[in-house]
Amino acid sequence: MSDSSAVQQRIQALTERLHHLNHQYYQLDISEVSDQEFDQLLAELQQLETEYPDLALPNSPTRRVGGTITKQFPTAAHRFPMLSLGNTYSEDDLREFDERVQRGLEGAPYSYVCELKIDGVAMSLRYEHGELTQGVTRGDGTRGDVVTANVRTIRTLPLALRAGLDRPEDFEVRGEVFMPLPVFDELNAEREQNGEPLLANPRNAASGTLKLQNSTLVAARKLRFYAYSLLTPGRHFPSHSAALEALTRYGLPVSDTWRRCANIAEVLDFVHQWAKQRFELPVATDGIVIKVDDLRQQDQLGYTAKSPRWAIAYKYPAEAARTRLNEVIYNVGRTGAVTPVAMLTPVPLAGTVVKRATLHNANQIELLDLRLGDMVYVEKGGEIIPKITGVDLSARSAEAIPIEYPTVCPACSTALVRPEGEAHFRCPNERGCPPQLKARLEHYVSRKALNIDGLGAETVGRFFDLGLVNTPADIYDLPARRTELVTLERMGQKSIDNLLAGIEASKQVTFPRVLFGLGIRYVGETVAQKLAAHYRTIDALMAASAEEMAAVPEVGGVIAVAAAHWFRQPENIEIIERLRQAGVQLAVTGEAPVPASDRLAGLTFVISGVFEQHSRDELQQLIISNGGKITGSISKKLSYLVAGDNMGPAKREKALGFKVPIVSETELMALLPAPVEAAAEGPLDAPEPVVNTGSQGQLFG
Ligand code: IVH
Repeated sequence: MSDSSAVQQRIQALTERLHHLNHQYYQLDISEVSDQEFDQLLAELQQLETEYPDLALPNSPTRRVGGTITKQFPTAAHRFPMLSLGNTYSEDDLREFDERVQRGLEGAPYSYVCELKIDGVAMSLRYEHGELTQGVTRGDGTRGDVVTANVRTIRTLPLALRAGLDRPEDFEVRGEVFMPLPVFDELNAEREQNGEPLLANPRNAASGTLKLQNSTLVAARKLRFYAYSLLTPGRHFPSHSAALEALTRYGLPVSDTWRRCANIAEVLDFVHQWAKQRFELPVATDGIVIKVDDLRQQDQLGYTAKSPRWAIAYKYPAEAARTRLNEVIYNVGRTGAVTPVAMLTPVPLAGTVVKRATLHNANQIELLDLRLGDMVYVEKGGEIIPKITGVDLSARSAEAIPIEYPTVCPACSTALVRPEGEAHFRCPNERGCPPQLKARLEHYVSRKALNIDGLGAETVGRFFDLGLVNTPADIYDLPARRTELVTLERMGQKSIDNLLAGIEASKQVTFPRVLFGLGIRYVGETVAQKLAAHYRTIDALMAASAEEMAAVPEVGGVIAVAAAHWFRQPENIEIIERLRQAGVQLAVTGEAPVPASDRLAGLTFVISGVFEQHSRDELQQLIISNGGKITGSISKKLSYLVAGDNMGPAKREKALGFKVPIVSETELMALLPAPVEAAAEGPLDAPEPVVNTGSQGQLFG
């Protein structure tokens, strides 16, 4: 680029694009481009800014560390800024990095530590006197969201550390919160069942989970944590490797994949070793982090504006393969959503053989201009479900057939509809479309719904194919049809006894699970629990309008409209009547217990600001009925300041001055016994515990 106005324009365009991508990534959890593309754009901008420093914009994305703070959680300043790492995709860059280190250390001997780069969410944890007192996200690098209640649900994270002679009294642990791959797969399978959009990758899943307001939900998502550094105000350990060993001794989870490397050749060996082996781990990784081991040498090398000079991240290129697109099939889900799936000539990719790739929806096919017979590129970067990222147009044959998106349901030939604002075409034939009916039955008998012993997804599918059952209500007619069942293949007396006992037992399954089992669009387990707890009987729920339901916490407008619509359909009303006749639980049993305990005994609280989930009176009641006291003013003796929106800055300053912990509504709730509605369901439906161990009153220090 020669003239400066062209450079200026390019800088402007790159800046805008990067700001946009940052917003999508950090605020909305959307990855519009691959990490590699993002890094290339950033590198181009950095290059231009170095060459033309006068043209650099004051607010350039190269000067920021990362995301912005979200408003729901209280924020806290990082005592040590949370920096990011310089990235590279090339081994030559690693050698150059090594040369810079060598020059910086003026010929002194040095060694490295190599670690896997976990693809999750950066987290800073504070331990005081051995107790976990705070968890803060990276945020913008200087301030982050306080998500203590949520990180406390991570089961592998010790809330109280093992004693160790060298354990600092006050330190921070930095590490990565992530969702293990099997948990991610299960979560997505569930979302697919519930007709909810799939999560793109485990990183998005982990970051979305950490932002949930309700830590009970967080606990159910089974997040994990790996520590990768320990920070103290003074120098406590001679080397990074000594700090990692200390973290392990204190009981913190450190991935045992890290190695000390004597030189850059050993670093490159490590990089090569894990290029393939990393796919055998139950955690998503996207590269290797290389750190100078000696902490004094780290200090000597120092920092640039946003990253350390003593460390670098090598990122593995997204794994891609080229293969033939043979066919597109169309799956019809439980809610009628039609998903195109690409059937490919099998090709090895990132540790597995890929035969299919999701095409998400019709837009995607158009966007890529796909034809049958095309040679396509399949990628499996952070994404676990492979996707088609492009077409090799040079290899397109004249015979390549344009893909015609079906206008009718591939299963029942009903004309497909595409509701406004939705990406999916849907088959509206809710009552007659076989895959929808079958998937609803499978959902009804599934583990988290009615969990009918002896009637698994396969058997109920077979019964459906044989015309024995069409809707959940038909299941309860099976006992009367024993003679028909006996004639079926692979159905001995014993399995029939089993099946009938399972059906009988399902009549004791609690109302929230029955409600979930009905398979109403968007009504997942949690929403079902909320609705059941609020309305207590199916009759009250059926009588409620969409508007009324939308006012129940955690039940949004879209969910409410879908639920109210479902309960207005005559065939659904009939199903419910038949379930009632059969004796299925359609109401919450027992009294709503008062949420009382002595959990907060001896603790004092000031409540300030506006809250989302409870009124201030409700919060006061909750605190008092659990043994706590409310006071009006902030003093050194105060246990907690419960902060809502619009709390005055003076209060915050005062609390910070007295070192009084500031907690959100969510964190307060996490101190209390399990939510009332969950307690009412009985043992079958008990939620995962919010906290794992430790004395409740001291968890926030
Ligand atoms: S060290 C000062 N080590 O990668 C640098 N980071 O930009 C501190 N990450 O979001 C980071 N695994 O959360 C380090 N073993 C590891 C890591 C790691 C993942 C993440 C980190 C940050 C990004 C680096």
